[in-house]
Order: sequence, then structure tokens, then C-alpha cells
Amino acid sequence: LQAKAYFDTHHHVGVIDQRIFSGFLEHLGRAVYEGVYDPESPLSDEQGFRRDVLEALRAMRMPLVRYPGGNFVSCYDWTDGIGPREQRPVRVDYAWKSRETNQFGTDEFMAWCQETGIAPMMAVNLGTGTPKEASALLEYCNLPGGTYWADRRIQNGHEQPYDVRLWCLGNEMDGDWQAGHVPAEVYAQRAKAAAIIMKGLDASIETVACGSSGRGMSTYLHWDRTVLEYCWENIDYISAHRYSENRRGDSAWFLAEGVEIDRVVEDYAALLNYVRGVKRSQKRVYLSFDEWNVWYKNMEMDGKGESAPHLLEEVYNLEDALVCAQYLSSFIRHADVVKVACLAQIVNVIAPLLTKRDGLLVQSIYYPIVSFAQHARGLSLVPALECPTYKAGERGDVAALDAAMSYDEASGTVAAFLVNREQRQEMRVVLSLGDQRFCEVLSVEVLGGGDAKAANTWEEPKRVTPRSAEAHVNEAGELIVTVPAPGLAVVRA
Ligand code: AHR
Repeated sequence: LQAKAYFDTHHHVGVIDQRIFSGFLEHLGRAVYEGVYDPESPLSDEQGFRRDVLEALRAMRMPLVRYPGGNFVSCYDWTDGIGPREQRPVRVDYAWKSRETNQFGTDEFMAWCQETGIAPMMAVNLGTGTPKEASALLEYCNLPGGTYWADRRIQNGHEQPYDVRLWCLGNEMDGDWQAGHVPAEVYAQRAKAAAIIMKGLDASIETVACGSSGRGMSTYLHWDRTVLEYCWENIDYISAHRYSENRRGDSAWFLAEGVEIDRVVEDYAALLNYVRGVKRSQKRVYLSFDEWNVWYKNMEMDGKGESAPHLLEEVYNLEDALVCAQYLSSFIRHADVVKVACLAQIVNVIAPLLTKRDGLLVQSIYYPIVSFAQHARGLSLVPALECPTYKAGERGDVAALDAAMSYDEASGTVAAFLVNREQRQEMRVVLSLGDQRFCEVLSVEVLGGGDAKAANTWEEPKRVTPRSAEAHVNEAGELIVTVPAPGLAVVRA
């Protein structure tokens, strides 16, 4: 296969917000307990944090981690998770039918963030909780002292405020599975009340209102429009969530998932422009794609009353990694709309990392995420593709190449992210920069080729790992690289 991708450093959609490489940690299954926090493990530090998990996450360069949920947050009383550990109550967790020991709470999460160099993105409970309780958590986290909740933080040994900048106003409130789910009009009132009180306490914070939890929801975009119209002046982002699946077992169809991801982002771009237009507003609201991943193989959601049960422990293969790469490329291509995105989740639960007490398994989806986060810097250049199509099942004829490119003006380097969706033929891709010539290839890393279902396992942990490859620059100053079938190539020049 042959394809050509044209870019020009003057033709861009703005600077890529590094917060699109963020993650999500929920009190769910073994994500918190046995995932990030495991005092029993020989691999943990003196605070009980898994060192190997910390290290693997550092390489992912996540600017933010969203916490503590997810569905969990909608029944969570954050005051259960602070103060002396032995006095914290054990609770039933409604969302995942589990037992929550509260041994890890807000202060432990903040300590963990400090340890990893990650900033917290907090979600408040607007399902069964009130705007007032949400503002108490903000006071606990951000106010300097001299008031009740800020003083409680200081009494708990944390003199300095945590200075949390980004706050989610609930989680998936459009879903009938959500504790405290209400119609859009009612949620909009709750969200606005919470945002006003919270921004009244700390004017420097930003807020994310709940958008639709998926494109399949019957209220998709109606919900979002209602919330945006009511809360426009009080919020900074609307959330989108998407979990990709290949239940039909059609890899050709699944590998075209980027088309749908683009569509969702473009739906929101249109809606945000529409509401801004109707309001004749100067203000901008952006998209926080704060849950995304592949999730369909492990649907075990009933914790049977246990603490840290094995739930949602999805095993990822090559095609899943290539779909993850397409999420990130889509976020890059829409850098003017998507300012935050969180991989759901980071460890054990639908995650790139799986732990056992004395070991860590790095799954296939880890590698594209590390590579994108490491190399996507600066402006997002707009691609123009000349490329063959392939038969993507019910999705019809789809471009075989998915491409995004970043351009870092300071260093003059570009990074190209290229997915070959075709499973049988590798693809020779010619990259052309209209206004410049490529001079030197700095690095090429490829992932894939061969069995789309290949996965890393405890027995065979290195089946899907990236390897370095070659690229060259021709006399016309174009860069030529070969992308495996199916596969990803990340080229820096
Ligand atoms: O990430 C798992 C769950 O998926 C989250 O708790 C919820 O928000 C979504 O439905």
C-alpha cells in the first residue's frame, strides 16, 4: 500500500494541550487497593504506594489524574476518607457492589499525586451529594486555613492547600445506572449551583459539566445542549465518554474506530459553536474527553461485597492499542476543541497496567500512549491524505491511514503518528511538509504487524512491544516510512 500525507506548518488548529494525555483512577475493583496502593506488597514504598506502578505511570507523563470516580463518586461521602485511618468507616459501595474500606482517601490521593508529579482532577458527588458538600471538599483541598474544612485538612497533617484546579461536577449523570440520575434540566440546576458556590470559594478553578456518557444514549446531544445552555457562564468544559468495543469480532471494522471518535468530537465541536452562537457569547467552553478506552471483554461489575475484587480486568491486544492510538490522534487533530482527555483507567481496571502482589504486566495499549505523550508537542498540523481505502465491514470504505502530526516551533521538530488500519499489507507513507523540507530523521518507532489479537500475558509479557525502525528523506525533502500491517509508526524529524 502507498499513501501520501501533506502538512504545512502554517496550517494548524493550535497548540496541543498536554492534558489530553491524562488518566483516571476510580475506587473500583483493584484500581486503588492492590493497584496504586498496597501496603502488603514488597514492591510498595513506606506510604504503601506501588513503586513499579508509579514508575510506569511516570513514563506515561500524565498531567492530570481524575479521581475518585466514575460511578463510585455518586454515592461517595468524601468525609469518610479523611482523618485517622483506624476511625474511617467501612462502607458498601453501591456502584460496584463492593466493600470500601476508606483506607485511601483524598489526602492519600494528593500524596500519591505529589509522588508521581501528577496534578489532581477531582470529581464531586452530584448524584446523592449536594452542591454544599461539594464546596466543602473544595474548601478542604484549596483554602489556606482559618475555616472549618481547611482547618480539618491542617489537623490531618496537611498544612499546604492542594490547589486543585480542575473539578468535575458529578459523573455520567445522564445514565440511569448513576446513583441520583436526574433529567438534564435538574442536573443542570445542580451543576450550576455547585459551580457558582465552588467558584465563589476559589475563583481560579475550572469546572467540567457532565455531558453524555456515550453516543448510544437516547438523550445524546440533547442532554448536552440543555446543560450547556443553562450552565454556559459557569463551566469551562463539557465531558464526553466513549468505550470502544469489538464484540462482533470484526477487526477490519474495529480498526476504523477512529472515524467514530472523530465524529463524536465533531458533534461536540458543532454543539459548542451552536450554543455559543445562540448566546452571542465571547466565552469558550471546551471538551473534556474524560473517559475513553477499549472495554468490552471483561464486563465483571459485581464485587459481591468484597474489598478490592477483580473487576473489569480487561486484557488488551494489538488492535486495542491501535484503537487507542486513533483516540489520541483524533484529540490531536481536534486540539482546538479537546483540551483534556483521560484514559480510563490507569491500573488493573480497564488499564494499561496489571498488578499482582509481586509483579507488573505492561499491556499493549501502554506503548502508543507513552509514545504520543512523549512526542506530541506544540502545534497540531492539519493533514491532507491521499490514501487507499479498505473494506471496514459495516463502516464501508474507510481510509487505510489514520494520521496526525505535531510541530514544535521551538525545536523545529515534527512528530507524525501513523496508523495502518489494513491488516494484510504494510503501508509505505510519504510525508510532505509544504513549506519546509525534512532534513533529518530523529527516531522511528513502530508497533504491530501480524496478529491483531496478539496480547501480552504474564507468561509472554513482551509479545506486543514497540521496536525501532528506519525512515529516510528523499531528494524532494519528503520523509518516507513503512507502517506495519496493522500497526502504528511514530516518526520524529
Ligand atoms: O470507567 C468505568 C466506568 O465507566 C465509570 O465508573 C463510569 O463513569 C463509566 O460508565
